[in-house]
Amino acid sequence: MVLAAGQGTRMKSATAKVLHGLCGRPMLGHVLAALAEVGPEHTLVVVGHERDQVTAALAEHAPYAVPVVQEPQNGTGHAVRLALEAAGPTDGAVVVVPGDAPLLTAGTLQRLLARHLETLAAATLLTATMPDPAGYGRVVRDPDGHVTGIVEEKDADERIRQLDEVATSVYVFDAAKLRANLGRLTTENAQGEEYLTDVIGLLVADGDVVASVTADDYRETLGVNDRIQLATARRLMRDRIVEHWMREGVTVTDPQTTWMGVGVRLEPDVTLHQNTQLHGTTTVRRGAVVGPDCTLRDTTVGEGATVVKAHCEGAEIGPNATVGPYTYLRPGTRLGARSKAGAYVEMKAADVGDDSKVPHLSYVGDAVIGERTNIGAATVFVNYDGVEKHQTTVGDDVRVGSDTMLVAPVTVHDGAYTAAGSVITDDVPSGAIGVARERQRNIEGWVERRRAGTKSAEAARRARERDTMAPDTDDDQGADG
Ligand code: UD1
Ligand code: CA
Repeated sequence: MVLAAGQGTRMKSATAKVLHGLCGRPMLGHVLAALAEVGPEHTLVVVGHERDQVTAALAEHAPYAVPVVQEPQNGTGHAVRLALEAAGPTDGAVVVVPGDAPLLTAGTLQRLLARHLETLAAATLLTATMPDPAGYGRVVRDPDGHVTGIVEEKDADERIRQLDEVATSVYVFDAAKLRANLGRLTTENAQGEEYLTDVIGLLVADGDVVASVTADDYRETLGVNDRIQLATARRLMRDRIVEHWMREGVTVTDPQTTWMGVGVRLEPDVTLHQNTQLHGTTTVRRGAVVGPDCTLRDTTVGEGATVVKAHCEGAEIGPNATVGPYTYLRPGTRLGARSKAGAYVEMKAADVGDDSKVPHLSYVGDAVIGERTNIGAATVFVNYDGVEKHQTTVGDDVRVGSDTMLVAPVTVHDGAYTAAGSVITDDVPSGAIGVARERQRNIEGWVERRRAGTKSAEAARRARERDTMAPDTDDDQGADG
């Protein structure tokens, strides 16, 4: 059971608390992922506040989970009571986790379950020793160290507040014992709610066995109630993911500024430089270097490729290709082996063949470019006529001159050239050069006549006087020209 009906007042958000995300999943998604590894027969999620959002998220990401509506939200005990009723006649172990503890691991849940089964306990609770236990329920033990109950901070006296062992809201219960005791909960407490924590005291009073496991690392059990705690959880999750990949052979030059989600895959001998963010299903292959200053989402970086200061979404970067700096690759971009998308280049739905280069200041949209082709600086693939997008095809071994406008739909065939500054509206046949620009004409003396008195006119006059005074040595000049 996952408890996710609470309001999350302290988030001050129109989004349900458990849907706030970290490292590629909503909090609830992390909790469900850990739970799924334990292999439950049924998964129930108690929903209440913003339940349409939460139910929709479940349908999309965890369709096996059954939502149980709690309305009104009368406390964690009430939530579990409704979930148990919805589960029908069940026996065996009931694992309860809060939806707001995203750092909880499957390993810890398995350890808790194992302890529960070997002690034949009525309930086994996960506790943690917190450096700052403020806000949590405290675990009270007798002098022999047996748990006697949990006291919520709001109901605790000064002596109990001094205790640093807290309840984590993670439990395993025997279903029958749980059912029998949920009916006995009262709302006589500071918050006027049915506390799940009170079940522990009731069981102990009846002489039932209550076991406990203390988390190896308290940070795993941190609850997220506000956005400061969310940022803390995100940092811890990031550390966990980044450390995992470093152990798998990835060099991370600055772990503190390197962020990635749970869906990212990295191969050994990848290097990630500072300020790199990898999202979604991004995959980086052996020997590739990404960063500094890169944001990649759902992007594949091929073996040995280099990506510097780039923003890439849904792109496929081939082996040994180079990208950046200041490059924007949008969905549907595929860069072939050893190809290049250089400085101030934007691409969308562009297929660039092996060894082809788009080195500077270009927009390439809705295009197929062949192999070994060079696209000159400031070329624009003019793909949009104001109504529809059109396709441009550029063949193999083509040389597109600088500042060419390729007005789609248009094809530049294998081995063709375009002249710099051309506006290409018609296909260029193989081996031809497409020239589409006005011929240059110079109007002699224009500046001195029409811009008299300017510095340019002054410079023009000086140059003219120099020329008329200079001896005629034309034959010796311009040898390097
Ligand atoms: C709860 C525990 C506290 C523990 C802490 C650990 C109780 C009474 N207190 O306190 O001992 O130290 O978690 O983080 O159990 N929820 C519902 N329905 C409700 C109320 C809450 O589904 O009516 C859900 C919330 O969405 C949340 C979880 O239960 O995911 C815990 O509720 P929250 O209000 O955060 O409890 P805490 O005050 O943190
Ligand atoms: Ca909480």
